[in-house]
Amino acid sequence: MADHPKSVFVLTGAGISAESGLGTFRDAGGIWATFDPMTLATPEAFARDPETVQAFYNARRQNLVAAEPNPAHRALARLEAGLAARGGSLTLVTQNIDDLHERAGHREVLHMHGELLKARCASCEAVVEARADLSTADSCGTCGRTGGMRPHVVWFGEIPFHLDAIEERLMAADLFVAIGTSGAVYPAAGLVGAARQAGIATREINLEPSDNAYLFDEADYGRASEAVPRWVEAMLGG
Ligand code: APR
Repeated sequence: MADHPKSVFVLTGAGISAESGLGTFRDAGGIWATFDPMTLATPEAFARDPETVQAFYNARRQNLVAAEPNPAHRALARLEAGLAARGGSLTLVTQNIDDLHERAGHREVLHMHGELLKARCASCEAVVEARADLSTADSCGTCGRTGGMRPHVVWFGEIPFHLDAIEERLMAADLFVAIGTSGAVYPAAGLVGAARQAGIATREINLEPSDNAYLFDEADYGRASEAVPRWVEAMLGG
């Protein structure tokens, strides 16, 4: 790892929010072990059975509203401030649709898979805050259309957000760190390979080796609430 890297790019996944009580997807008992993503997380599923899809996201939204950030989220917010104070920068890209990074004090978060606490009109694309349940009875405050207010999240088969910014920020980084992600879903899972090709140092922090663990120069395995603060202290204290 570059000593005292100044420009750090962090990619987080569901594992960083696991200890806040939000489900992961591919662990034993994970969300996709319980629910079929093809019936809940695709545009076709929403068109076919919107109320079932809304109910799935309504339950996750209520779980999120009751959840709290954990020490891993707070440590990354400290790292963002600490790097800025020494003229460096932290780019945080998350696959998570929760707002726990923001609630931990993180200032800039790029949600490449969208945000559970926002809704988007399928007709005019207007995006609004959504903390309460969504239903097909909701109408859009911008275009007035009823029935098309969907969770502002990226479903399978849709294009993730911020891809240009992600590419640009990654290529400017001197360290890429993946935290709490299985490395199973692209394009997020391809970022470590792009970093290596660009000669950028790479580190994985995860409960166990991910699907692309072999691509990382260094790794810390353990629970995020312990491993991330330890890594951040080393980054800021050293
Ligand atoms: N601390 C650290 N890592 C953990 C913890 C923990 N307490 N608990 C679980 N993990 C790790 C798991 O070992 C696993 O490698 O977090 C990872 C979670 O992997 P996934 O469940 O596949 O979640 P993620 O990688 O974020 O999934 C990517 O898939 O379904 C889509 O859109 C969804 O954004 C999601 C994407």
